[in-house]
Amino acid sequence: MGIPSFVESEHRPLVFALNGQRVELSSVDPATTLLSYIRSETPFKGTKRGCGEGGCGACVVMLARYNPVTKEVKESSVNSCLVLLCSIDGCAITTTEGLRGGGNNLHAIQKRISAFHGSQCGFCTPGMTMAIYGCLKHDQQQQRSLTPVGDRTHSKPSCEKLERALQGNICRCTGYRPLLDVCKSFAWDVDLEDLGLNTCWADKSGAKEENLPPYEPNADPQFPKFLVDELEARKVPSEPTQTETLQSVGERFRHVESSNEGKRERLWVTASTLNELRERLHVLNQTNQQLKLVVGNTSAGIYKDLRPDVFLDISQIPELLTLRRDDHGLEVGAATRIAELIDCLESFGAGKSPVAEGLAEHLKKLAGGHVRNWGSVGGNLVMAQKFAFASDLATILLGAGASARVVDLGGAHPSVAELPLDDFLAKGALGNNSILQSVHIPLVAYSREVVFKTFRAAPRPYGNAVSFSNAAFLVHISREREEVVIETARLAFGAFGTKHAIRALKVEELLKSKTLSLSLVKEAVEALKKEVVPLEGTSMKEYRTSLNVGFLFDFLNSLLSGEPTVTSTHLFPHVGKQNFTLTDDRFPLSQPIAKFLSQNQASGDAVYVDDIPSPPHCLHAAFVLSSEPYAAFDVDTAAARDSTGVVTFISVDDIPGENIGIINPYNGAKEILFAGGIVFYVGQPLGVMVADTYEHAQLAAGKVNVDYDTHSFGAPIMNCDEAVAKDSFHPMNPAFAPPHNPVGDAEESLKEADFKSEGIVTTKSQYHFYMETQTALAIPDEDDCITVYTASQALDCLQQVIAGCLSIPSHNVRVITRRLGGAFGGKAFRNMQIAAAVAVAAFKLRRPVRVSLDRNTDMQMVGGRAPTKTNFTVGFTKTGKITALKAKTLVESGWFVDNNDFNPMLITSGMKKYNYGTFDLTTILCRTNNVPKTAVRAPGDAEGSIIADAIVDHVASCLGISGNQVRDVNLHTSESIALFHGADAVGGADGFTLPAMWERLKSRARIDEREKEIMEFNAQSKWVKRGLAMASCTYGAFTFGNTATVSIFGDGSIAVEVGGVEMGQGLYTKVRQTVAYCLSPLWKKNKDVDMIPNIRVLQSDSLSLPNSFCDGGSTTSEGSCAAAQQACEVLVQRLQPVVEQLAKDKTDGEVSWEYLCTMAKLMQIDLQSHERWVSPMKPYVLFGAGASEVEVNLLTGETRILAVDLIYDSGKSINVAVDIGQVEGGFVFGIGFVLTEDVERDAKGKLLSDGTWTYKPPTMDTIPQKFNVELYNSPEHKDRILSSKAVGEPPLVLVGSVYSAIRNAIRAARKDHLGSNADSDAFEFSPPATADKVKSLCGLDNVEHHLLSALKPSKTIPHGKLV
Ligand SMILES: Cc1cc2nc3c(=O)[nH]c(=O)nc-3n(C[C@H](O)[C@H](O)[C@H](O)COP(=O)(O)OP(=O)(O)OC[C@H]3O[C@@H](n4cnc5c(N)ncnc54)[C@H](O)[C@@H]3O)c2cc1C
Ligand code: FES
Ligand code: FES
Repeated sequence: MGIPSFVESEHRPLVFALNGQRVELSSVDPATTLLSYIRSETPFKGTKRGCGEGGCGACVVMLARYNPVTKEVKESSVNSCLVLLCSIDGCAITTTEGLRGGGNNLHAIQKRISAFHGSQCGFCTPGMTMAIYGCLKHDQQQQRSLTPVGDRTHSKPSCEKLERALQGNICRCTGYRPLLDVCKSFAWDVDLEDLGLNTCWADKSGAKEENLPPYEPNADPQFPKFLVDELEARKVPSEPTQTETLQSVGERFRHVESSNEGKRERLWVTASTLNELRERLHVLNQTNQQLKLVVGNTSAGIYKDLRPDVFLDISQIPELLTLRRDDHGLEVGAATRIAELIDCLESFGAGKSPVAEGLAEHLKKLAGGHVRNWGSVGGNLVMAQKFAFASDLATILLGAGASARVVDLGGAHPSVAELPLDDFLAKGALGNNSILQSVHIPLVAYSREVVFKTFRAAPRPYGNAVSFSNAAFLVHISREREEVVIETARLAFGAFGTKHAIRALKVEELLKSKTLSLSLVKEAVEALKKEVVPLEGTSMKEYRTSLNVGFLFDFLNSLLSGEPTVTSTHLFPHVGKQNFTLTDDRFPLSQPIAKFLSQNQASGDAVYVDDIPSPPHCLHAAFVLSSEPYAAFDVDTAAARDSTGVVTFISVDDIPGENIGIINPYNGAKEILFAGGIVFYVGQPLGVMVADTYEHAQLAAGKVNVDYDTHSFGAPIMNCDEAVAKDSFHPMNPAFAPPHNPVGDAEESLKEADFKSEGIVTTKSQYHFYMETQTALAIPDEDDCITVYTASQALDCLQQVIAGCLSIPSHNVRVITRRLGGAFGGKAFRNMQIAAAVAVAAFKLRRPVRVSLDRNTDMQMVGGRAPTKTNFTVGFTKTGKITALKAKTLVESGWFVDNNDFNPMLITSGMKKYNYGTFDLTTILCRTNNVPKTAVRAPGDAEGSIIADAIVDHVASCLGISGNQVRDVNLHTSESIALFHGADAVGGADGFTLPAMWERLKSRARIDEREKEIMEFNAQSKWVKRGLAMASCTYGAFTFGNTATVSIFGDGSIAVEVGGVEMGQGLYTKVRQTVAYCLSPLWKKNKDVDMIPNIRVLQSDSLSLPNSFCDGGSTTSEGSCAAAQQACEVLVQRLQPVVEQLAKDKTDGEVSWEYLCTMAKLMQIDLQSHERWVSPMKPYVLFGAGASEVEVNLLTGETRILAVDLIYDSGKSINVAVDIGQVEGGFVFGIGFVLTEDVERDAKGKLLSDGTWTYKPPTMDTIPQKFNVELYNSPEHKDRILSSKAVGEPPLVLVGSVYSAIRNAIRAARKDHLGSNADSDAFEFSPPATADKVKSLCGLDNVEHHLLSALKPSKTIPHGKLV
């Protein structure tokens, strides 16, 4: 039976406001999200798609609802990628564009983001803007509702509240520190002097409110009057009368799709009372259509494959919206949004109910704020019950003793059942006619006899990451003299690998009426391990069990001792200092001017490829990827071709020219575009489905059947060991031979070494996680020409690829890139394949075709950093001086070579950061049936550098001495650096700034004192250990040639084109400053003359500025500036005589810039100069030093970074703000590599961590709480362009200090357990330091071990499980 035909008695179109304008839609596909509507149907493109699953915040908009009864407006930030369009009826939506005030005046948030250098690539910026705005509005609302005007102590949010507003937003570029400064600039408890570098004031004396772009809440967008009137006028829906037929009510929107597969309908049905809902369900349940009850629809971020036919909106049913306090607690309607529940719990006030406080605090770590604003309590609980979702809410409500009210609407009258939450969760999915109506939370009042506490361990401390495990405990106790008696206990555990949260009933029983003692705690722990057991197949089973043990121990131990077991350092507010020296004599070089067009990025005006409106008749492509690593294949597109909107499938057979997808500009290596006959890795493109819309193309791609024949092939090679066994290697490229390798005779030195030790260190992959996924728009033109707009780091190569594929000359191919929403190496090579695919499709179909990868496909297709495995033997003296290092590194490069043949050189260079005396590294490029690995920020160098730090730490562990001591004695001297990296590369004494920076850092960061303090802390602290470590940076850079065209116009404006691409690194900003500086002989060299606004850097265009190179290696800014400098010099030479000539006619001898340009144009002087800067092609070494302090929680394995101090030598910086941004951003990218980002693949090489649910780039809560950066004031250097040095990637390697600091904390933990045996405890510790890894190194059984030894103090307990 199909979908019944409902017709609403009074059919009303969907009406809402978008940025103050009325929108009325009479026909809507119910599956349409707000994001896809905004992006495809409106001119507002500021709202971005970064993940489509609620995990990145790029799509955040403001949603305001008006209540005609209370006349109140409620505004909240939401993820528009999860909100269904149909559910915003009557709402007002504001995007970042809508924040602009009269006269197009930007909002204070937008201006401050630009002023505080909080936008680099800008792709996250609109989402950040809206997140901050959401927080301000929420606070204003809360102030209004909670606090009588006279009682308000402040009218702004706190720093912590504002910082936490960014919890659900990812920024991959900035490292968050400047964004957090923007947040704090709106807070009541900020000292403005503590805010970082900005353009509002030059020094602390200017740090005053009046110098900030003013914020006037009353000028913020108001709920539109027309909508208020309409909502007031709307009739309250009447209950259907007995005589009314079902068909006369309910249906709001019906969408019909016809294709060869038949007709598919989607329906949006609303129910405004329980009775109506009963009627709807009665009819709908008789059909075989898939029905979804909808409140917030946020579950779609997780369960994406569920595609309901009928959406039944229950969000407006009054019985589901109750939020009522009674004598026993709180009744919470199931459709109550989680944020509303938090507000309500908080409204109880401090010290009133431990349960209310505990729940509210825990809930603030659930998801991100935008999800909480829209996701409902009932939705969460039903997900927990129906889909075994790892819910926090279910666990903590279970712990609090909540019950559920379930209504069965199947009979003539609703029947209500009150179930304890345990029973509700255990019940399994509700029947077709049942719904969750509400939950009741008993809110026990505060007393000394009631204790409620919740726990969670997750990849990120403050949210937007589901828990590895969570728990909530409620106990009633009595105290007898010094003793604590547990009268009753409720112990709930969830998310640990269970179908749903459960109570540990046996442990509860065990504790009941017992006097608490350590032996009772031990008994409880033992019982818990038997009762709360992760299901078979759960990942990290032992770790999750150890978490549960840790939670219980933490709780009981604190009851017993009367003190918290674990006190972690509070991370808010974040603070940071930036130190630098401005060189005024080269004005405007070095000045911290705001990034070019950063205000446009914040306001949503900046145009990215996917923001370019689709041309008429534009089609959309979606990739079909291989799901086998090595097989012959046949594609069957029959089913897909019948899918709605499908045009065709483009495969290898449609390529008119050569099958090339990628040409590597450095080594000329070619990679195919589409697999032909055989696939070599999972994720390899087989072709693209082309359809009329993005959604249709994706749906159809999912319907392509691929037959694989794996029998005729050998087993695929899935890792380095298998590659070695089968001799499967990529050839080494002699052009990229490692420099100065080997150094001395390591073999011989090893023989003579005082001590010798062997070890292994591995590094895993890392995904770029650029916020803008790969995207391209190809538009065919006359005479076999084609224009491709794409986000590419290598336009020139892409032009060649497309020309080769299409068998047309390069001059027929125009590739245009205006800006990239982040790249980090991922758009240097892998982008070509994506853009070439749509070029082939467009060329064949003679229609524009565009593609924009969804996050999961992007992650599957784009191989990240190459994993490595290094076996080493190191020789050293008892002081830690390394005398020899011999190592072999296997690099898992994947099937195609991509840029992997650079890796031997880069890894070698990275490893040479310390003076080993003698050094011998062999690097082998393993060819496997995995996705090709590619450049990721600091490719090779990051891996090499971490391996080096791991080896130094290994030596320190072997000797039982401090890692810093070992680094000190192995720090390069001017002789050793020349030996290891080459004298030329160091740049003489002036260039070798490392020792000075190292010493400066040691004193500025008080390393020696802090080491002692930490030792004392660790001796006192049982369950939290700290570590401090320094690391150096010696990074080899190579500047490639570049081109520039500088064109001056008669009005004095200047257009500049350079070979480099703007991807957030501030290249265009530096070019503007360079041009202003280099043309300054033509105008007054005076700070009052600001030439910068006259200079526009144009988008990159492969025809307008051909034969550029590839952006990469951190030096493209330098190369572009060098080319621009050269072009300016030509213009100066040409125009200087004109200035002199014109000056003669002026009484004061002054020739204004505009006058000069007008006259020069009239005099027919060529005002354009095009130059190629030819690089001397000499590498040079960059230096830096870093120190990090971390804290590790031994019960959970979680790490917090307490403080980081970095000093980096970027030479005479061209823009200190840009360079500091690169240092901070690069370092935080590195934090991801060593701490949070864990790439997991299955046995076939399919990426398991392929989205924001499973892959965790750092968020604002994973950055250092104190983050100080200094740009070293290094002398001018004739061999460096404008005496500046590269900065994009090198500072990343300083993250070795975080990694080593964690190791030091783990060492301290192990020392507690191993005692004197820890002296030579050279345990293997490879990044990333995920919580499970750290915990297992500290001892998964550390609690049991502690209890055992505490109960038998006289005996030494052997530790069983330290790895
Ligand atoms: C990015 C992200 C991160 C998250 N992180 C966490 C986290 O850390 N911890 C955590 O606990 N949760 C987390 N969540 C889950 C989040 O809390 C839920 O997605 C949200 O609460 C669901 O509410 P909803 O109204 O959007 O549900 P919907 O998506 O509308 O519905 C969810 C399901 O419940 C059904 N349903 C809804 N209401 C009822 C009802 N009254 N009766 C019967 N069935 C009903 C629906 O039919 C559907 O099957 C996260 C979610 C996202 C998107
Ligand atoms: S696109 Fe919506 S949260 Fe990422
Ligand atoms: S500026 Fe935040 S992602 Fe690029």
